[in-house]
Amino acid sequence: MAKLAHAQWSSKMGFVLAAAGSAVGLGNIWRFSYLTGESGGAAFVLVYLACVALVGLPILVAEWMIGRRGQKNPINTMADLAKRHGRSRGWAMVGVSGVLASFLILSFYSVIGGWSLNYTVGAVIGSFSGQDAAASEAAFGALLGNPGSLLIWHTLFMVLVVGIVARGVTKGLEAAARILMPALVVLLLVLVGYGATSGAFGQAFAFMFTPDWSALDGGVMLAAMGQAFFTLSLGMGIMMAYGSYLGEDVNLLGTARTVIILDTAIALLAGLAIFPIVFATNLDASSGPGLIFVTLPIAFGNMVGGTLLGLGFFLLLTFAALTSAISLLEPVVETLEERTALGRLGATVVSALAVWLVGVAALLSFNVWADVLLFGLNIFDFLDTFTGKILLPLTGLGAIVFYSLCLNKEESRRELGMDVYDYSLWNLLTKYVAPIGVVVVFVAGFI
Ligand code: PHE
Repeated sequence: MAKLAHAQWSSKMGFVLAAAGSAVGLGNIWRFSYLTGESGGAAFVLVYLACVALVGLPILVAEWMIGRRGQKNPINTMADLAKRHGRSRGWAMVGVSGVLASFLILSFYSVIGGWSLNYTVGAVIGSFSGQDAAASEAAFGALLGNPGSLLIWHTLFMVLVVGIVARGVTKGLEAAARILMPALVVLLLVLVGYGATSGAFGQAFAFMFTPDWSALDGGVMLAAMGQAFFTLSLGMGIMMAYGSYLGEDVNLLGTARTVIILDTAIALLAGLAIFPIVFATNLDASSGPGLIFVTLPIAFGNMVGGTLLGLGFFLLLTFAALTSAISLLEPVVETLEERTALGRLGATVVSALAVWLVGVAALLSFNVWADVLLFGLNIFDFLDTFTGKILLPLTGLGAIVFYSLCLNKEESRRELGMDVYDYSLWNLLTKYVAPIGVVVVFVAGFI
């Protein structure tokens, strides 16, 4: 295999942490729980789990392998590999749509990151103390209704992202993630414990794991598949870019399994923390993107040590959001840097400004632009839906089809350390199950 063209991760652990840092974020806690609530619970959760295993795993490994072969940014990697294998340069479109998805996702992601920052401060000044469901809903409603405040927090979040990217301290973040990610898991366990003792835990558990299949339709299935892509940072070229830094000695399947188990466990814990509170306080599970911001303060406001735990939780959530946001900004910056004369800093500032601006439109859709609709959705919902349900599945499909079509089978078998039998199963998964699954769910989602 070609000599590696650029730097590698300092260690295998560094790679796992970076990949997990990108994967674990608002998607696991904020997006997973609000979609689960909105989509009727267990049927959504089970389809999501199936998608993670049958579609997410193969696409994650495929993106890493493509990146490791290509050694460039996603667009050039796709173009080069396509050329090398005598395929159309049109495959570069997979990279382009990935970059577009990163750009659009970061714009609304930053708005939610801003909410998390706001709640971190809220915990410090004790605003959750003794709060009941009505007060918590009112507090969240007041934040949504205040464009100036949303703007400040969204801006602050973007400034943090740019500050970290521009100062190149992302390596330090990886080291921090080693401590902070386990801390997040511990705090989630505390919250699950709170739900188990003070909430409607049994009802929440049944809601999440006992499916009512009548709730399942094409739309729910597509939402679940989109969530699998979103939470694993797939279909954006991000994992591809990470793969390009990957040494040849890293065990791809083992690493993918570690990242996926961690990511999925965090999402399920978040659900088990949130839904007991939802049911115990008669909140509406399907209330949408505000779900965690309405429910968790109730727990923190009423448990022993809640102020400190609330502060810890929202700080960790913000941190997890930042590491994911950085990975979202990277492909956009890299593309601008390589295709214009802006340079690294210029490219970072210009990308961030553009992201920020789209984010402003997204946050206005919670108040003054609530009536501005695109395809029947407000701007925020449109961005979330268009990326999650359309761009990510299509880009991921492109990656897996390209992998099956172009990468040498024997080489790829050895790279994965599989015997012939295991590889035939892998081949079945990557060539048929995953791509056909994506197409079927995608089509079902639109009829
Ligand atoms: N996976 C991240 C999350 O769950 C979000 C993300 C998506 C990050 C895509 C990078 C790329 O929050």
